[in-house]
Amino acid sequence: MKLSKILIKRLKEATKYAYAPYSKVQVGALLYCSDGKIYTGANIENSSYSLTMCAERVALFKGVSEGARDFSLLLLYSPQYDFIIPCGACLQVLSEIAPEILIVTMNKDEEFKFFPLHTLLKKPFKIRS
Ligand code: THU
Repeated sequence: MKLSKILIKRLKEATKYAYAPYSKVQVGALLYCSDGKIYTGANIENSSYSLTMCAERVALFKGVSEGARDFSLLLLYSPQYDFIIPCGACLQVLSEIAPEILIVTMNKDEEFKFFPLHTLLKKPFKIRS
């Protein structure tokens, strides 16, 4: 199977695991690493709403906690949202771990839009050293 087909299949599978009883917006995220490893995530909501975790950070934290660092692509999908892009909090976290990452967002027709991270977050917060 072509890599693009595999990635789309894995992204859609990940989206199905979203726990989103409040917003009803299911989001799937897939991180593709330079060594070919894949980490997926889905959003996980909570009745204490602010504890909700976005799909992007679920995938990123899974990867980082297993030693991955070299993230090349972030694929995103939501069946309820046309071309979902990461929220500001996720952009900030991504900017520290994967500043060069390319964000690829897919709609229900499997069309794509491409955003290098720095085009979505021009001035990330950094601790001065
Ligand atoms: N959400 C994500 O998982 N990623 C985003 O980039 C934006 C929003 C989730 C959080 C919440 O569960 C739902 O989408 C509606 O905001």
